[in-house]
Amino acid sequence: MMSLEFPDKIVLAIESSCDDTSAAVIKGNKILANIIANQEVHAKYGGVVPELASREHQKNIVPVVHAALKEAGLEMKDLDGIAFTQGPGLMGSLMVGASFAKSLALSLDLPLYGVHHMHAHILAHFIDDAGVKLPEFPFLCLTVSGGHTQIVKVEGPSKLTILGNTLDDAAGEAFDKSAKLLGLPYPGGPLIDKYAEQGDPRAFSFSISDLDEFNFSFSGFKTSVLRLLQKEMKADDQFIEKNRDDLCASIRFTIVGALIKQFKKAARNEGITQLAIAGGVSANSLLRKELQLLCSKNAWDCFIPKFSYCTDNAAMIGMTGMFQLMEGKKVEFSAKASARLPF
Ligand code: KG4
Ligand code: ZN
Repeated sequence: MMSLEFPDKIVLAIESSCDDTSAAVIKGNKILANIIANQEVHAKYGGVVPELASREHQKNIVPVVHAALKEAGLEMKDLDGIAFTQGPGLMGSLMVGASFAKSLALSLDLPLYGVHHMHAHILAHFIDDAGVKLPEFPFLCLTVSGGHTQIVKVEGPSKLTILGNTLDDAAGEAFDKSAKLLGLPYPGGPLIDKYAEQGDPRAFSFSISDLDEFNFSFSGFKTSVLRLLQKEMKADDQFIEKNRDDLCASIRFTIVGALIKQFKKAARNEGITQLAIAGGVSANSLLRKELQLLCSKNAWDCFIPKFSYCTDNAAMIGMTGMFQLMEGKKVEFSAKASARLPF
């Protein structure tokens, strides 16, 4: 196994795969700056509008990079490499970050690191944050975001194998689509989580697919939420307002239950005793609680990212770029961003 001695090198990282423009500076595995510009424009459309996202990235990228360098107290000449999100994501958005990173690397004569966004969510666990315990290889990671739901076996920084996947919607989509049915604004995941805290998780029961192996399916669940709402709203058009917290608690309970069930099965099957979560949905308070419970019951080690590393950020891109620097894996300047970059 590669020794986990992080070098005294500095990488500037850029993330622009979806609707957040972010730049980070990392030295070894310590974050010197992690700046994120959120795009508010999408909220009124109920989802990310790709065309607007790339335009916002174009506006934000220069100020965000400058702010990151300033916060790190560094200049361009102090950098040892440039990392960027190569994919997957929205093509127009990815291209803004990729072109910027390439021109910067070219003009500064620095190596360029093309990072897989989903690897980065997982490898964020190696960021040294006030001496937190880092995972050791191998560990299992449940990566849950707006576009992905995966159980990944991580045997090394570039040896990641998908054991389970969603067959349709991602866990984040299941949250967001349910939230939309309840009339909540996008992204609805955090709101469902918030209202769920005051609700009864057993007030309503929703069906969810129970799949073999370690896969997931959320489309039937979404239909089950829709059916219940349609039926109840016919009898009382105030039903959602009156039951908001209980509906949110029941939705969250059902989604998290399905995630934990498959994750536990995979851990038992692989005999792996270090479990991590990553991605936007790993900010969910019930998922965090349930994973801790599962691990403490089984005397397994549990790795839960701090909130700022759950949703999209460039710090995780920098961490993955640093691993590539350590492994000597730079990409050519001709490397293309890819909306469907293979895992
Ligand atoms: O990883 P991420 O920031 O973006 C990508 O999809 O790559 O994940 C965003 C997703 C959204 O679906 C959002 O609703 C969900 O993460 N999310 C949550 C919570 N915070 C963010 N879902 C449930 N509970 C939360 N607290
Ligand atoms: Zn993400």
